[in-house]
Amino acid sequence: MIIEPTIQGLRAQLERSMMPHEIDLSLELIEKIRKLKKEMNVTVLGHNYMTPDVFYGVSDFIGDSLGLARKAAETDADIILFNGVHFMAETAKVLNPEKKVLIADPDAGCSLAESITPEDVRNLKSQHPGVPVVTYVNCSAAVKAETDICCTSSNALKVVESLESDSVIFLPDAYLAKNIAQQTTKKIISWEKGKCMVHEQFTPRDIQAARRQYPDLFVVSHPECDTPVTGESDFAGSTSQMEDAIRQSPRKNIMLITECSMADNLRAVFPEKNFVSTCQTCPHMKKITLPKVYEALLNLQFEVEVPQDIIDRARKSVERMIAIG
Ligand code: 13P
Ligand code: SF4
Repeated sequence: MIIEPTIQGLRAQLERSMMPHEIDLSLELIEKIRKLKKEMNVTVLGHNYMTPDVFYGVSDFIGDSLGLARKAAETDADIILFNGVHFMAETAKVLNPEKKVLIADPDAGCSLAESITPEDVRNLKSQHPGVPVVTYVNCSAAVKAETDICCTSSNALKVVESLESDSVIFLPDAYLAKNIAQQTTKKIISWEKGKCMVHEQFTPRDIQAARRQYPDLFVVSHPECDTPVTGESDFAGSTSQMEDAIRQSPRKNIMLITECSMADNLRAVFPEKNFVSTCQTCPHMKKITLPKVYEALLNLQFEVEVPQDIIDRARKSVERMIAIG
């Protein structure tokens, strides 16, 4: 989705989740950031988990991991600023080795990406010779370089089903692997250490308690949650698929089982819906703040670097995924 609301429109969007004095400060910075973007031909990509000021204020494109990877592959800007976590910015660099790719805080990591190393993948491959390896994009470029094809939560099943083998090694998210295993006849070999520190916090009891209070509740979860949680939900999918499911549902009361900023951002899109509160904050996503975004453009920091041999190998896995859709 393309985005650049007017300052007035933006104020109305931010009022749903921010205090008036915070909005004034943010709007000043947003105007400065927008000016720098134009001067330097920068494309800003904003993940659905960014806070509303970063998400609506300065993004050129917003979306889930797959949507933003596609935008990164298509852009003709000189510089890409990725407002998301490091593995996402690395994927943008892999797809655009000749461009400058910036991230406002290089320490914005991911518990899934940190759970696995290239050596772990090589060991698994030697334990299961000939079995294709699918990696969820939430991993480093060096891990992607060891694998056959990437996927995101929006196309994981499609990617797994596209492979001819009866068995698939699926890394690094153990819960996404469990969710996929329930939908395919293929044998899924997973990596038990890989968990999202945000989505592993949710339990089916969170949902059951809310359903008692709101009998018409529409529960939408991310497939990084364990299967008892997605099993209690009405829909499970990527962050953008969650938004689409809410758009299509006639129900008013919505429970989002995911990162906190997602509900803040969707309140602005669906003013007629009631978002029943439960959420967990991703400390990595929250490292990307508006002042840091401004500093990133002012000082052209922090540049994402990936060695050329890793780019060459990881790119094949990412492009193979993008071709599948
Ligand atoms: P999406 O691909 O659904 O945007 O998910 C990315 C992510 O990190 C979820 O925790
Ligand atoms: Fe990683 Fe979970 Fe944060 Fe997404 S929400 S970036 S999977 S730690």
